[in-house]
Amino acid sequence: MTGRMIDLRSDTVTRPTDGMRRAMAEAEVGDDVYGEDPSVNRLQAEAAERMGTEAALFMPSGTMCNQVAIAVLSQPGTDVLAAGRAHVVRYEMAGAARNAGVQLKGLPDDAGFFTGADVDAALESSAHHQPPVSLVCIENTAQAGGGRPWRAGELADVAASAARHSLPVHCDGARIFNAAAAVGIEPRGLVEGCTTVMFCLSKGLGGPVGSVLCGPAGAIDEARQERRRLGGAMRQAGVLAAAGLYALEHHIERLAEDHARARRLADGVAECFPGSIDPDGVETNMVCCDASAFPEKFLARLADRGVLAGMLDPDTLRFTTHLDVDDDSVEATLTALADIARKG
Ligand SMILES: Cc1ncc(COP(=O)(O)O)c(C=O)c1O
Repeated sequence: MTGRMIDLRSDTVTRPTDGMRRAMAEAEVGDDVYGEDPSVNRLQAEAAERMGTEAALFMPSGTMCNQVAIAVLSQPGTDVLAAGRAHVVRYEMAGAARNAGVQLKGLPDDAGFFTGADVDAALESSAHHQPPVSLVCIENTAQAGGGRPWRAGELADVAASAARHSLPVHCDGARIFNAAAAVGIEPRGLVEGCTTVMFCLSKGLGGPVGSVLCGPAGAIDEARQERRRLGGAMRQAGVLAAAGLYALEHHIERLAEDHARARRLADGVAECFPGSIDPDGVETNMVCCDASAFPEKFLARLADRGVLAGMLDPDTLRFTTHLDVDDDSVEATLTALADIARKG
């Protein structure tokens, strides 16, 4: 195989476009620890505006935003509720236990979603010698749900339960712009019942680095201290913030294209490998499939044909569309899939 591989492992693999690189090169910068980086300040103001919050804070990664939010909103020695297969539970190296002294309690998680009744039930167990609960985390889009977005009604149900128990809600909105595009509303409409929300610039939006935590001014002030504690305070970070601003300006409208391509891929996968996926469940940029429906050494055989896909966990094979995947890449992938399916 010559030329660049078609990389469908994740939407984190994108490279900055020429326009984005120009914006980075030309960024106005200052020392952000002094609050003097104009590009960072602009990005934070823009993020707060888009999420409908008082303030926002730029950080190097989504994981750091989640960790900081958990540390700020929870209390040590308590349970934090999240879907059992959420990123905060599975992929953050038990950071919440180490950094915030909390235990993550995985709620029933068929597809990355839970209900207000699940939150109520978890609170009920703390009346029976189990730890108190101090925070609820949701993930939107829900990766374990094949990238499905939460519906407004589902969010309102969980938020109402959290409010009944006076619990804050943190939204891991790594892909909140994909969710918003899929359900057809502005992101701020998806975080109304949340205390804080973080979103990633480095995933569907195609930025190279960075995520933003948005929330009330007091929580963001505390988050600034916690970020520093974790070593995430950056200096002339405006070169990165400029990429983020560029992504917000240029790469939101096009997310619907990623979603359409994912759906096209899902149709092809289902045709080639029956039982691997229900294409109707693909609503954003992820195509999450039952790994047992694919032949032996599938990923290696696909790579031999110039296409990379990945495993989300031992049972789930994933293709992800993004800024660097165009219609030709999708067609080439479908050809490779058909070839593998034909040869068995
Ligand atoms: C749902 C979700 N949350 C959080 C993160 C963490 O983001 P980062 O890789 O920037 O730490 C990811 C990364 O893939 C993610 O998929």
